[in-house]
Amino acid sequence: MKIQTSQGSYNIQLETDCFKNISTTINSLSNNSSPKIAVIVDQNVYNIYKKLIEDSLAAFNPLIVCLPQGESSKSYEAIYPIYGKLIENELDRHSIIIGIGGGVIGDAAGFIASTFLRGVKFIQVPTTLLAMVDSSIGGKVGINHELGKNLIGSFYPPSAVIIDPLFLKTLAPREANSGLAECLKHGILSGEGLFNKVLSNPQILKLDNNQITIFINDSIKVKKQFVEEDEKETGKRAYLNLGHTFAHA
Ligand code: GLY
Repeated sequence: MKIQTSQGSYNIQLETDCFKNISTTINSLSNNSSPKIAVIVDQNVYNIYKKLIEDSLAAFNPLIVCLPQGESSKSYEAIYPIYGKLIENELDRHSIIIGIGGGVIGDAAGFIASTFLRGVKFIQVPTTLLAMVDSSIGGKVGINHELGKNLIGSFYPPSAVIIDPLFLKTLAPREANSGLAECLKHGILSGEGLFNKVLSNPQILKLDNNQITIFINDSIKVKKQFVEEDEKETGKRAYLNLGHTFAHA
């Protein structure tokens, strides 16, 4: 699936086991035969998927930076040292930053990509259901301020989104429920088809990969309609915040 933006379009790849082929996406985005790569990854995700991540990116000898799980990683204090690592490792304007994790990582890594050297390419690799169906799509990146959530940020479309349902196998039940609630939200916004599908499949994550993939695809299609029509949230996109403000509070 492609998402159209004011700056072009980006591709969403959705397939079980597709992460291991991430080098193909990197090469297709890069005009340099060996771009420098920085991976910003959730510490827990890295602990579980270290081998997969390292093997899939071995050809690029990437800089790997782990951030602890949780909202505190979406802060100026947490991300400032990462700019220093990018500079010390001589990342340049042809470099690509890859965010691997849930919404916190996608938002923080995307914000770093949008500001480092005035913007470098960015690949979203969401590993939670919530990030797969919502936060990785639509280009919102940012960090929190002590006075409020998401107060510092921008609209910065990724260059690609790679969704591999393989990562859902180790998702904590609370996180899975959060993602299902987001699918339900898309159901409310799109009509009863998806809404009823979510309600009748509360155990969706236990189903086989094909069914999960179809389900994620249906949900992303809803988000696509909203973000393509109102990329910068001047109107209709605000509907996607249904339940968010309440939950943030
Ligand atoms: N998560 C709501 C939005 O992307 O607009």
